[in-house]
Amino acid sequence: MHAIEHDREKLEQAAGRLSRSERTIVSTGSGISRESGIPTFRGEDGLWQNHRPEELASREGFLSNPGLVWRWYRERLGTARAKQPNPGHRAIARLEPLIPNFLLITQNIDNLHRRAGSKEIVELHGNIERYRCFEYSHPAEEDPQWGDEPPRCHCGSIIRPDVVWFGEPLPEAEIECAFRESARCDTFLVVGTSGMVQPAALLPQVARNAGALLIEVNETPSEITPIVDIFLQGKAGETLPPLVDRIEELVSRG
Ligand code: APR
Repeated sequence: MHAIEHDREKLEQAAGRLSRSERTIVSTGSGISRESGIPTFRGEDGLWQNHRPEELASREGFLSNPGLVWRWYRERLGTARAKQPNPGHRAIARLEPLIPNFLLITQNIDNLHRRAGSKEIVELHGNIERYRCFEYSHPAEEDPQWGDEPPRCHCGSIIRPDVVWFGEPLPEAEIECAFRESARCDTFLVVGTSGMVQPAALLPQVARNAGALLIEVNETPSEITPIVDIFLQGKAGETLPPLVDRIEELVSRG
């Protein structure tokens, strides 16, 4: 069979399953934001090619040079705000009201899913639009003054981005929800993640162990591809819109 027909058949299979799904999880990584112009982490132009994660995205890195880390997040926030959600983000937001018990679990901190209109979101690694104090996690006001050094909390502790750094535990409520829902969904769609960072990378396996059907959208095979049932190879922004269009048709036919 010609590759295009094969892909069309797999998309049809995925759309058919998702349109009948009773409990659906969509799990995303930085690959879904790539077409918005935000670099991934481990690709050839990935963020970690030019920076050492432990130096910039860790407690030790922040404590040893708070200004450097603060300015790096100021730059990432500026990039995220300057970019727009892409057709991949918007397709996921369109999918949410179409099917019952939909949950989006993202590793991304760029806030693009919210800006695209997604509502039911679990942010495993935090959100670059949120800040808290380093010592006691007092929430900081919405938009701290973006000087060259992190501002201080009313308690005197320095303010940090409310994102998960390497070596830090993930937010308890979010991780609990993610594992609980992955263990009871019947369809798990994973998009744009290399599957190299735990515990997020475990979620597809948890869903599979519970009998869910696994569908992956990725530009290239990932660590998760070997366990998925349907692998739709391609860019998220090109694959998700036709997938959701087809789901919309199938759902509207009832
Ligand atoms: N469409 C779909 N997938 C894409 C696209 C695209 N346009 N562009 C890249 N990808 C895929 C890559 O093939 C890769 O599998 O996105 C994935 C990006 O992988 P990583 O760079 O490892 O990013 P991610 O999986 O999100 O990293 C997880 O690591 O550094 C930490 O906290 C950070 O949340 C991040 C976590």
